[in-house]
Amino acid sequence: MPVFEDVSSWPRRPADLPRVARPDRVLLADPEHFRVVEAINVHMCDAEGRPNRVDPAAARREWEAMRAAYEELGVEVAVVEPPPEWPDACYVANPALVLPLPDGRREAWSARMVHRLRRDEPRLVAEALAARGLVVRELPDPSVPFEGTGDGHVHPGRFLLHGGYGQRTERAAWEAIAAAHPDLDVLVYRLVDERFYHLDTAVAPLTETTALYVREAFDDAGLALLRAAFPDALEVPLDEALRFACNAFSPDGRHVLIERTCTDTRERLEEHGFVPVPLDTSEFRKGGGSVFCLKLAF
Ligand code: ARG
Repeated sequence: MPVFEDVSSWPRRPADLPRVARPDRVLLADPEHFRVVEAINVHMCDAEGRPNRVDPAAARREWEAMRAAYEELGVEVAVVEPPPEWPDACYVANPALVLPLPDGRREAWSARMVHRLRRDEPRLVAEALAARGLVVRELPDPSVPFEGTGDGHVHPGRFLLHGGYGQRTERAAWEAIAAAHPDLDVLVYRLVDERFYHLDTAVAPLTETTALYVREAFDDAGLALLRAAFPDALEVPLDEALRFACNAFSPDGRHVLIERTCTDTRERLEEHGFVPVPLDTSEFRKGGGSVFCLKLAF
């Protein structure tokens, strides 16, 4: 299938597409060596342009609380331990994309990270996934930037992929994945705002019809596509999106793990029948991420 960027050329809707299982395990990466070493996104500096300072003990506490939240919800947790030279490796969503297939298998696509500092992370994550039974695939052209689940969302429960491009990942990555799966629809979104530099900072799929999203991250074509794919999408106010409200994660379509300071979004979620699970991710926001990118669901 080609990729679709314009809603008028997309002939289907999620309910027309094959069902896939929601992942029921998460991979986390131990935050022991998490630091801001080099500012590779606009969230990593303070108002004076100095790299943010991470408090490692606080980061550890936040991460342990997140891990406990998964365990309380019955989600199986696996952990990798990145080496000291990889300060961003706690954002383990980025080095791979796990695609559940309609026949029940799950395949992983290994990323090609844009920044030198993160270049070697995909190897560790690919090994962890392969050890747990997933087939790991590589894009045919290794020079195409592709940041895994940072820019790719699997539609909850359907064989449908949403891909962001224009900040980190290139559109050609989505074209390659679409070419490998003739039955897969891939919807692509140009990310137009550097503050929302990964798709997972701009939209969080929650159920087959609902997602959180921030308008400022998208062009008109992207907004139209998103609203067609998620007819009950909830728009998040800009200030909360900048605190990573759209980097929330729902493991089951009911509970939503979300940065705790996003109080308006938490209220909206409750009004719509969700159960927010507030988490303090203030240390990890200093590196440009929050709940969603701190795990890789598989
Ligand atoms: N410092 C990391 C980077 O810029 C943060 C990644 C956060 N991940 C995410 N999917 N938003 O690559």
